[in-house]
Amino acid sequence: MKHTDIVEILKSKDLFLGQNITLCGWARTVRSSKGICFIELNDGSSFRGIQLVVDEATCPDYALAQKQGVGAALKATGTVVSSYNNKEVPEINVATLEVLGEAPSDYPLQKKRHTLEFLRTIAHLRARTNTFNAMFRIRSTLSAAIHHFFAGRGFVYVHTPILTGSDCEGAGEMFRVTTLDPATPKRPEISEADFYKDDFFGCKAGLTVSGQLEGETLAMALGKIYTFGPTFRAENSNTARHAAEFWQIEPEIAFAELEDLIELAEAMIKSLISEVLEKCPEEMAFFDKHYENGLVEKLKNIVQQNFVILEYTEAVRILKESKVQFEYPVEWGCDLQTEHERYITEKVYNKPVFVINYPAELKSFYMKQNPDGKTVAATDLLLPGVGEIIGGSQREDNLEKLERRMKELNMKQEDYWWYLDLRRFGTAPHSGFGLGLERLLLYITGIGNIRDVAIFPRTKGNLQF
Ligand code: 4AD
Ligand code: MG
Repeated sequence: MKHTDIVEILKSKDLFLGQNITLCGWARTVRSSKGICFIELNDGSSFRGIQLVVDEATCPDYALAQKQGVGAALKATGTVVSSYNNKEVPEINVATLEVLGEAPSDYPLQKKRHTLEFLRTIAHLRARTNTFNAMFRIRSTLSAAIHHFFAGRGFVYVHTPILTGSDCEGAGEMFRVTTLDPATPKRPEISEADFYKDDFFGCKAGLTVSGQLEGETLAMALGKIYTFGPTFRAENSNTARHAAEFWQIEPEIAFAELEDLIELAEAMIKSLISEVLEKCPEEMAFFDKHYENGLVEKLKNIVQQNFVILEYTEAVRILKESKVQFEYPVEWGCDLQTEHERYITEKVYNKPVFVINYPAELKSFYMKQNPDGKTVAATDLLLPGVGEIIGGSQREDNLEKLERRMKELNMKQEDYWWYLDLRRFGTAPHSGFGLGLERLLLYITGIGNIRDVAIFPRTKGNLQF
């Protein structure tokens, strides 16, 4: 269908003034007054729409226009003029109007504002609201910004498999992938190897929880790589920040230590936020107005500030000395709970904090063991209001130390023979992290729930659509 995107007219109004054009889109509002029907048309090409003016005196389709409900798909031809109310804003004097698809009165998006909870029940339609129009536009811009950032620094973009045999995080949260009949489960006397022999891959398989291990193999050849794809976790956490399917960005860098990693992560967060602020000003103004007052200012500040680097041991000391009655008491060796993370980022520093050098017991097998024998060269980046958005570490590059740790954790080394080979042949210091795309979106948009930053969110107990 030959037509012009609304964004083109909004961007260069003067070029289009007086021209005859065709637009296609959906009616957001329809109202009539004194023989003129006004239709706000949005075609998804921009956050804003454009006003169609259908005059009874000049347009034969006036009666048709008036009958249309919110949500109808329309094709209009007409002339671009300056709005009567605001000379800066273009609108369309409609000559002919065609209805491509009606939206009867049971169309669920009649009201101007619906609750996010209600919109989740009609996730197939919610992209037609301002909130989700802006959200998906920002998600797209953010994704492009991620590629810009890494490409600009010479990183190679790699696609790690989604179907995998290795549980990277070792937390037992892998979704099983199988073609075996669920009606004949494994009997205790049959070994795992024998049981999965008949499965599709001839071995136990699952959906990846992280592309890191595979990513490391390429970092050991290409130097600087990043992955950007979906990851899956069968985590039993029913929170506003946990999804069973989420997108992760995982850079992995050869010849990099923990401090290099932290520098990269900070530069990345600042660059991503700057690009979204620059490219999505209308969407960001919308979220600032409707979801988090001061959002844009907050993000501009983040770009200016130095992030804090805080030893885990120091974080524990601060929490213990705070005299706050936390639900989960703090001791060295305990995992930092959301309440602790919030206290540190919101009350103590009010800015992003890299917590570093966690107790080894809290972290995954692959992390670089520090000389103190107790901690690993890990970091989590915590953001005010959201908590952890990045988890990463320097990797253990010493074969013996890595093997010893795997033994302590009762891991089957034969499953990781290829990963251990990376330490056998040309091992080198290297580091990487994982950024959760949805968590960053929560922070950037001020939206409070991970269910509202994905098209069809997958969370515990919920796979509608
Ligand atoms: O801290 P995590 O578990 O780290 C890893 O997976 C490492 N292998 C990454 C690496 O070093 N390459 O997860 C990384 C990030 C978290 O900080 C969080 O932002 C996000 O992934 N994440 C989730 N996001 C939404 N829902 C979940 N269930 C998430 N679990 C982790
Ligand atoms: Mg983590």
